[in-house]
Amino acid sequence: MREARRTGDQKLFNNAGQAWNHAFFWACMTPDYQPPSGELAAAIEQAFGGLAQLKDAFVNEGVNHFASGWAWLVAGADGLKVTSYHDGDTPIVHEDGTPLLVCDVWEHAYYLDYKNDRKGFLERWFDQAINWAFVEQQFAAANGQGQGFRYPAPEQDTAGGAADLGGLA
Ligand SMILES: [Fe+2]
Repeated sequence: MREARRTGDQKLFNNAGQAWNHAFFWACMTPDYQPPSGELAAAIEQAFGGLAQLKDAFVNEGVNHFASGWAWLVAGADGLKVTSYHDGDTPIVHEDGTPLLVCDVWEHAYYLDYKNDRKGFLERWFDQAINWAFVEQQFAAANGQGQGFRYPAPEQDTAGGAADLGGLA
């Protein structure tokens, strides 16, 4: 995505961005909802005043995002913040912090179930679908603890593994 942006290959950027954003979006959801906890909950409290206020900010960002795009929670230098980008754009190529959470606000994400009620989709999604354990992992990685989301997932680095296979071929 960064290379496509650098070289101005918009077609490649759009498709790579949409692949990455969707992969991240799937990981942001779970059927077994649990609220945020620990350091992430404390950071949400500090930045927004609480989960209800983060919901207001996130839903508001998504509702007011004109046309197609994605609503994000990112961990920046000044703490957590809500933002949005158009089409296939992504925080990965901006100096805007580490992505923690995303929701698809392209019409295809909600129209079949919610028609034009983007707000209703975002509110229910926020209350019931978010995988906060995954978000906590991204927040920890942003603070130097553990590995953040990568897509495609890196290949397993096993002893005598991929690096040596060329010699065996
Ligand atoms: Fe989508």
